[in-house]
Amino acid sequence: MEIDTKVVHGGQKPDGVTGAITPPIYQTSTFAFKDAEHGARLFKGEEEGYIYTRVGNPTIDLLAKKIALLESAEAGVVFASGLAAIFSTIITIAGSGDHIISDDTIYGGTYSQFNQVLSRLGISVTFVDTADLNRVEGAIKENTKLIFTETPANPTLKIVDIAGCAEIAHRHNIPLIVDNTFATPCLQRPIELGADVVVHSMTKYLGGHGDLIGGITVGTDEFIEELNAETAIEVGATISPFNAWLTLRGLKTLALRMERHSTNAMQVAEYLQSHPKIERVYYPGLESHPGHSLASKQMSGFGGMLGFDVKGGKEAGKTLMDRVELCTLAVSLGDVDTLIEHPASMTHSTYSEEECLKVGIKPGFVRLSVGLENPKDIIADLDQALELI
Ligand SMILES: Cc1ncc(COP(=O)(O)O)c(C=O)c1O
Repeated sequence: MEIDTKVVHGGQKPDGVTGAITPPIYQTSTFAFKDAEHGARLFKGEEEGYIYTRVGNPTIDLLAKKIALLESAEAGVVFASGLAAIFSTIITIAGSGDHIISDDTIYGGTYSQFNQVLSRLGISVTFVDTADLNRVEGAIKENTKLIFTETPANPTLKIVDIAGCAEIAHRHNIPLIVDNTFATPCLQRPIELGADVVVHSMTKYLGGHGDLIGGITVGTDEFIEELNAETAIEVGATISPFNAWLTLRGLKTLALRMERHSTNAMQVAEYLQSHPKIERVYYPGLESHPGHSLASKQMSGFGGMLGFDVKGGKEAGKTLMDRVELCTLAVSLGDVDTLIEHPASMTHSTYSEEECLKVGIKPGFVRLSVGLENPKDIIADLDQALELI
């Protein structure tokens, strides 16, 4: 099946009992055992079945199966948030005394998790520009347990060579983990390019409607079993069955949404690029983007996220964000609605000013999650707000 058919049908069949084509929401914390022996057998793993929603739930399991299928992975575990997925994944692979390599341009929440929480657990992190493969190679130590990257990166849209990073990781017998939140499996499938594990904030495009928080990790059966057995169930960052169901509902239109997000973003990027009050536009679909040719190779579309530097720096950027009317000034991304925000003071405020500058987040850098409105209306809104600078 092609990906746009898979998002509709993948992993799903009408309900065997009722024929319902939409999967039921198993909104329950616990499941009754037939008798004491049955309960004991389930706990021992001698028989398959449901025990308790933190351990497993049919709605959540269906979602894991479906996203694994979309990502060309063998299996997946769903979490209450993207950060819970990332944390549980990392601590399944690395522990006290270990070292990990992370790209230096990642979501600000992931950056602070790596800096603040992993360090308390005795896991050291080297942040490098993973788009430069020599730097990745140079950062490997004897105790390095994994490489983590995000591409396109939040918020600068930097493009990282997934196959190149995977080659280095595998030569050193360590896994490559890719956060595929910005691209989604409709536009990029890291496992097909050599990555071992993919993580997502499902809060974004996978859910797609700005009404849930969720995350997922997908990989091999062996890794997912280890993640479940050693971490996920004990950490207990379980998504609610309702939020899992909302994600399943959102996934049905993922291919269509990503296509429209991409064409809208391309039009907005072209408009901004030609605007005299804009210094620079960051969108991998533009030929002027340094990662354009790599993105054209490893992605099948450029997505709905873009960034731009407003002439006049932070003050000019603030005026723009305060004056937009159709676009909403809010963090998060991947929603139907266009969202605008200022990474240096919002999503990436966990980076110091110096760290922001080092990874290319200038004071006037504005991030735009281009929604599904008519692009003419998005452009008209940006245009009236730019007029006011
Ligand atoms: C690329 C990326 N990864 C992970 C996360 C964290 O996801 P969540 O907010 O669902 O925990 C985010 C959140 O913005 C993100 O943008």
